[in-house]
Amino acid sequence: MDNFVSYNPTALHFGKGVIDKLSETIPQYGKRVLFVYGKGSVKRSGLYDKIMSQLLKSGMEVFEYEGIKPNPKVDDVDAAAVIGREKNVDVILAVGGGSVIDSAKIISITIPVNHSAWDFYTYRAKPKVSVPLIAVLTLAATGTEMNPFAVLQNEKTGRKDGYRSDLIFPRHSFLDPEVTYSVPANYTAYGISDLIAHCFENYFSKGDCSLSDRFIFSIINDAVEWGPKLMNNLCGYDERAAIMYDATMALNLLTSNGKDGGDWGVHGMGHILSLLYEVPHGASLSIVFPAWMKLHCERAGERISRLGKNIFGTSDVDETIASFEAFFEQIGSPVRLSQVGIGADKHEAIIHLWIRNKAEGGNFKLKEYDYRKLIELMA
Ligand code: NZQ
Ligand code: ZN
Repeated sequence: MDNFVSYNPTALHFGKGVIDKLSETIPQYGKRVLFVYGKGSVKRSGLYDKIMSQLLKSGMEVFEYEGIKPNPKVDDVDAAAVIGREKNVDVILAVGGGSVIDSAKIISITIPVNHSAWDFYTYRAKPKVSVPLIAVLTLAATGTEMNPFAVLQNEKTGRKDGYRSDLIFPRHSFLDPEVTYSVPANYTAYGISDLIAHCFENYFSKGDCSLSDRFIFSIINDAVEWGPKLMNNLCGYDERAAIMYDATMALNLLTSNGKDGGDWGVHGMGHILSLLYEVPHGASLSIVFPAWMKLHCERAGERISRLGKNIFGTSDVDETIASFEAFFEQIGSPVRLSQVGIGADKHEAIIHLWIRNKAEGGNFKLKEYDYRKLIELMA
């Protein structure tokens, strides 16, 4: 087992009606709030009005940044940070999915400085302080609500990268499963794929820790049980709650203790599909992961077999991979590039960026011929 530090300062408020407690929590951090959200779902669902009335009732002065895009862009983060700096905000409230919360995390460390957020990603700058961040999660998938990671795209440099800092953990995250009733079927399925992929990334890590592996099997088993039930009943409270809790636990560091930080090669490759063709994050992972397991069926055979035994009751490697592929298809998450409209004419561009951006794992390294084999398996 590898050495590790276990640290997670986020207070998680989970369940029906928890958002009503926002008006008690936010004023603890000051009066001036930067309210950050996406491209319209919070307004359509009525959540915007509900939150705004709580903010105004509790005497907050509200400044807004609207329009964070899926696969969020550093330009939006820089623009929002300017507002936060000029208005001298005390606290940030992010209401949305991973894209909004990730953006808000980086806004929180960019407000106190005088340079682009991207300087953190290139390690030209290191954050020293952050504006306190409070999150309301509207989509179960990434785990960002309780972790120190944020992923941004920089279209000018052709990169989609993750960043880690203990300064960007949300202080509080509010998770009401009812808020996710309005997530459409496709994004609901991509969220399930994403949380399972987070379990895989930690499972296929270099280090060994049997308890972390057992947490991983439990989370995947729960998602495999509740995922199809949720897809059949998108407004089921128990179904939404189970998947929401699974997603938080899948990437809040619980499953990486003693495991050397995870592999993350599949995420690196998935990010390129999002960067080039706007493939939704979870969809990119359900395409790459089965192909990646097929590529590594010998090197990672023992692990895949143990995974199969604990999830599907089979130790057969091929059967395990086929079962995951069938599961992703059953819930409506794609498993081939052709299903998201990416044809053979795009393969070279994808391989080129995989190589240029060194999209490989911490444990499983990839050579050019591996990338070529992978893309064939994904076609
Ligand atoms: O923009 P709006 O209008 O809000 O619509 C969003 C968006 O179109 C919509 N949506 C969100 N909540 C909704 C809703 N629609 C109806 N009802 C609701 N309640 O869903 C669409 C997708 O939202 P997005 O935030 O992009 O999805 P997700 O939560 O999957 O986040 C994906 C981003 O997170 C990154 C990904 O790379 C991607 O950029 N990740 C972040 C991680 C982290 N910070 O730990 C780890 C992950 O591996 C991942 O890389
Ligand atoms: Zn992910």
